[in-house]
Amino acid sequence: MPRKNQTLGEFIIENQSEFKYSSGELSRLINSIRLAAKVVNHQVNKAGLVDVLGAAGDTNIQGEDQQKLDVIANETFINTLKNREIVCGIASEENDDFITIEGHNDDHQNKYVVLMDPLDGSSNIDVNVSVGTIFSVYRRITPSGTPVKLEDFLQPGRNQVAAGYIIYGTSTMLVYTTGHGVNGFTLNPAIGTFYLSHPDMKFPENGTIYSVNEGNYTHFPQGVKNYIKFCQEEKDDRPYTSRYIGSLVSDIHRNMIKGGIYMYPKSSLNSNGKLRLLYECNPMAYIVEQAGGKASDGYTPIMDLEPKELHERVPFFCGSKKMVEKAESFM
Ligand code: AHG
Ligand code: MN
Ligand code: MN
Repeated sequence: MPRKNQTLGEFIIENQSEFKYSSGELSRLINSIRLAAKVVNHQVNKAGLVDVLGAAGDTNIQGEDQQKLDVIANETFINTLKNREIVCGIASEENDDFITIEGHNDDHQNKYVVLMDPLDGSSNIDVNVSVGTIFSVYRRITPSGTPVKLEDFLQPGRNQVAAGYIIYGTSTMLVYTTGHGVNGFTLNPAIGTFYLSHPDMKFPENGTIYSVNEGNYTHFPQGVKNYIKFCQEEKDDRPYTSRYIGSLVSDIHRNMIKGGIYMYPKSSLNSNGKLRLLYECNPMAYIVEQAGGKASDGYTPIMDLEPKELHERVPFFCGSKKMVEKAESFM
């Protein structure tokens, strides 16, 4: 049983036995994500000092080139994950192709693949608004002992063994699932320890917040327009409140606590929406479903989609179960 205020380290050890293949590797993987999260948190917190320390593209006082935060976050997660005998491949928003990790003695024995958006909502960094990291974990399906292949990454979301996000907000939190509910841990930055602050998170079954970039309204399909009008109509518990940060992790985190729906529909501008199936929608869908919410492309549950390519985009409707079902009925 999760106990409030226990540390993430304690929690990982105590819950290791619930994993299907309990060899300790998935626990070590979560542990390395915990470590990378702290490093990235430190970098994100310094971002406001950019005028003092030098902007991306500049050369700093030591003659080193300053890097963009999404590149730093990407490298931090890759380096942390690859130096352990757990992960055989990583796919990231920041890399065109997946990365192969040979492992110990180049024997390709590592079992897990990780897909990630190392810094989501990164345009918000410049204006001091919350950003996040999203990750998704699968067991490889090709035989171990051979290099990882594209098909190891193109698995439907249902095959995920873990997924989570880190939100670098007013507090930094790590929220994740391994298929036994969702737990949220808050970082105490003074001592660098995550504590269980949100045990067994539950998405409210219904809500009154809708989150969508309404600037794209005229380009949305008629069904989406009608659903937005429904949200705004004065009837029963409506009109709903509109809340849109433009940072997927933050928008979904808020809605998971308060109850709401997040939408990134297709439009005449983007035929499949904007969000990426493999490292944005699938991990969020896994977390949201584990918390009792729902995620779909408007018709099909996100995790039932068969991925075709690494960076493919899908329309995304995600949040309180009743709200997503209502939105689907308009499509
Ligand atoms: P990223 O910073 O990883 O490219 O993702 C940004 C995403 C997501 O966080 C957010 O919900 C969405 O883009 C916002 O898009 P719009 O500005 O088109 O609304
Ligand atoms: Mn993103
Ligand atoms: Mn990103």
